[in-house]
Amino acid sequence: MLNRHVRLVRRPAGKLSAADLELVEGPIPEPGPGEVLVRNTWLSIDPSIRIRLAETTPNGYLPPLRPGDDLTGLALGTVVESRDPDFAVGDLVSHTLGYREYALVGSRVQTIGGYGAPARIDAGELPPQWFLGPLGSAGLTAYVGLFEILELDPGDTLWVSSAAGAVGALAAQLAKIRGATVIGSAGSAAKIGFLRDELGIPSFDYHDGPLPESLAALAPGGIDAYFDNVGGDHLTAALDALRYAGRIALCGAVSGYDGAAPQGPPNLFTMVSKGLRMRGFRAGSFTHLEEPMRREVSGYLADGRLTYRESVFNGIEEAPAALPAMLSGATVGKTLCRLGA
Ligand SMILES: NC(=O)c1ccc[n+]([C@@H]2O[C@H](COP(=O)([O-])OP(=O)(O)OC[C@H]3O[C@@H](n4cnc5c(N)ncnc54)[C@H](OP(=O)(O)O)[C@@H]3O)[C@@H](O)[C@H]2O)c1
Repeated sequence: MLNRHVRLVRRPAGKLSAADLELVEGPIPEPGPGEVLVRNTWLSIDPSIRIRLAETTPNGYLPPLRPGDDLTGLALGTVVESRDPDFAVGDLVSHTLGYREYALVGSRVQTIGGYGAPARIDAGELPPQWFLGPLGSAGLTAYVGLFEILELDPGDTLWVSSAAGAVGALAAQLAKIRGATVIGSAGSAAKIGFLRDELGIPSFDYHDGPLPESLAALAPGGIDAYFDNVGGDHLTAALDALRYAGRIALCGAVSGYDGAAPQGPPNLFTMVSKGLRMRGFRAGSFTHLEEPMRREVSGYLADGRLTYRESVFNGIEEAPAALPAMLSGATVGKTLCRLGA
């Protein structure tokens, strides 16, 4: 038996294509003392790995990958061999060595800002992949951004960008459940239909016209808070649309990840003129909120108040195509790759 894994062939010139990645075969690694061998069952396909495919990465972030390196990412799997007394064969674990069929997981594994250290998951009767989605990183990111960073108030009018994505769809719904007035944006008519008709979130397609006009049509009085997944022109529009003392949670800036030069907002002085507050965050710095998030989100999933959508690719052979598909907007909700089904 061999271990198939995805590695970077060359740095993408512009948008990432599946041809920039390749599936290679190698031996299944042997666990040493303190390590466990995990057979991965679910891979999380996240935008952030694209940042590491560039020549340089932002100050404070993980270093760039080099051609020939394996991709990494959050994943779930089953322990098949253990030389760590904390893990037994059969345990379901989450870790950061995705994009491969078998992962050698130990305490030295690289984490994403502290998030993703190997952890046993007790999924009970729940679908295990929810622990990569609404009960995992996506849920924690939405929860932290709304309640820690924005300190969301039920009287707020909130804009969530990339609202049909993994984090955005959860953030938009959680904010609505907590009483805020929520508007969303996304990149296709199908996604706007999903947001409006299935989630009840008034939304606009950012391709359909100038952002300030689209925002004004749904929030004529302006917004109090902005959950930023996109950066660039979206952040610029939010700064203009925010009312006095408005708040921004900088969650990500996906418009600048996939080959486009990152665009800083030219209207930062509105932070001064309107007394705005903007704060970036890494969900991994707030793991103490994982339990309260899981309690709240699992309750909404159980009583049907929260809708969770996922786009699933099948088999490690589809993983190289899954990442560019997600980045280009071809998937809805949480993007995953299922292995060994
Ligand atoms: N701070 C943290 O701890 C943390 C943790 C996880 C994720 N994040 C960030 O959260 C954001 C969302 O992540 P996710 O996992 O939920 O991804 P996602 O929203 O499920 O997928 C990414 C989406 O970005 C949209 N997009 C791509 N290029 C765009 C552009 N130029 N303008 C506007 N939208 C564009 C596409 O949807 P459309 O069809 O709508 O264009 C695409 O589907 C990302 O910025 C990510 O880096 C941050």
